[in-house]
Amino acid sequence: MSAVSHLNYGLWRHPDDQSWRYNELDHWTGLARTLEDGGFDSLFIADALGLLDTHGGSADASLRTGTQSPLADPLLLVSAMAAATRHLGIGVTVSTTYEHPYLLARKFTTLDQLSNGRIGWNIVTSQLESAARNLGLDAQLPHDERYDRADEFLDVVYKLWEGSWEDDAVRRDRAQGIYTDPRKVHPIRHQGRWYSVPDAHLSEPSPQRTPVLFQAGGSPRGQRFAARHAELVFVAGANAAGIRRSVDAIRALAVEAGRAPEAIRFVAPLAVVTGADDRAAADKLADYRRHYDVEGAIVHYSASTGIDFSTHDLDAPLRYQETNSNRSLLTHLTNDPTRDRPWTLREALAPAHGLGRHKTLVGGPSTVADALEAWLRETGTDGINLAAVVNPGSFADFAEFVVPELRRRGLVAERPATPATLRERLFGQARLRADHPGHRHGVAA
Ligand SMILES: Cc1cc2nc3c(=O)[nH]c(=O)nc-3n(C[C@H](O)[C@H](O)[C@H](O)COP(=O)(O)O)c2cc1C
Repeated sequence: MSAVSHLNYGLWRHPDDQSWRYNELDHWTGLARTLEDGGFDSLFIADALGLLDTHGGSADASLRTGTQSPLADPLLLVSAMAAATRHLGIGVTVSTTYEHPYLLARKFTTLDQLSNGRIGWNIVTSQLESAARNLGLDAQLPHDERYDRADEFLDVVYKLWEGSWEDDAVRRDRAQGIYTDPRKVHPIRHQGRWYSVPDAHLSEPSPQRTPVLFQAGGSPRGQRFAARHAELVFVAGANAAGIRRSVDAIRALAVEAGRAPEAIRFVAPLAVVTGADDRAAADKLADYRRHYDVEGAIVHYSASTGIDFSTHDLDAPLRYQETNSNRSLLTHLTNDPTRDRPWTLREALAPAHGLGRHKTLVGGPSTVADALEAWLRETGTDGINLAAVVNPGSFADFAEFVVPELRRRGLVAERPATPATLRERLFGQARLRADHPGHRHGVAA
């Protein structure tokens, strides 16, 4: 996130953490280069559109602890990072609930052009009442309706990206004075329940046309949405078994929707604390834990779930409560078949084995590589979304200590000699696969 603290609550206080430089362009271009040189496929920046004010009914605690507030606009960082790199994919969250498809389509086309096809879009429907309130609504739209609306949003952007401009519409013919052949630019004539977009796309097609589509829907409706649209799914869960259940469920739904099982790549969030050997890594973890801020974690947990946990007993079992915010987080913890009782908030937020809401692997190069291999096997995922504990130290450590060991084991793909689009790196082709629902909107060249 473009904030001082995303999921590494309180770690901005650690002397090695640079997240407080989130307003400096050098911070982002340096991070992008660290990742590209370190063998990462892509960088991902999450986003939200309101202050976190569920905790105690105000934003005070989130502002005080720096938890996702203040927050800058991640999309505006992308072109600088693209200019500083040649290979790295860059994924950014934008919410369908508060954007307009006609405008969003142009933004992503522009970024895909400027990065030579390295852009991904993490499609979210948002979960904060504070966003709704400040963006013209009295309250959030109902949870599942947000996804219904997102389905139509996607139809509109597919028409703009895939169906409006033919591949050879741009002629750049100086002799005849024809830049674009107007016969090859088509109005999309979209008229739906939520959107009316009659005309053609405002931008000429970019290398990928449609950006690589990321999604993280965890509720039943969210999973259906992911199964239909996503090419890369962020899967969360209480543990490896829970993540595996989500992977299997989404893949089965995708097949039902007419897509091949291999049409979706699955990636789960993970933190890694590593060093030259196990001892050095354990010392680092102990040091990081001294800076971890449980209050920041509760602020975020309250905002995501829509439930005020500020007065909740940390050691009382969690109960599922249906809200209009995120519906999957609490499900993971109250319905975990590997345990005989629900998780407590303390176990969820400050687990004995690591830091925060996702699994943390701790150890030297071979310990982490072994654990990572087991993790990928047990979860059925294709890769990880490495969450920073300290930024950019967690990424630099992973690149220095773990990537060489993963390379030796053949688990990190070599970078292509010439830059490729993000979709080529993930699927071997620049354009949407033929079984993707956006593909049918395509125009013949
Ligand atoms: C790795 C990962 C990244 C996510 N990034 C964002 C984000 O940037 N913005 C956001 O509003 N939600 C984000 N989410 C949350 C999901 O998009 C979604 O809101 C959540 O899974 C709840 O969906 P559900 O109500 O369908 O369960 C992320 C989830 C995961 C697992």
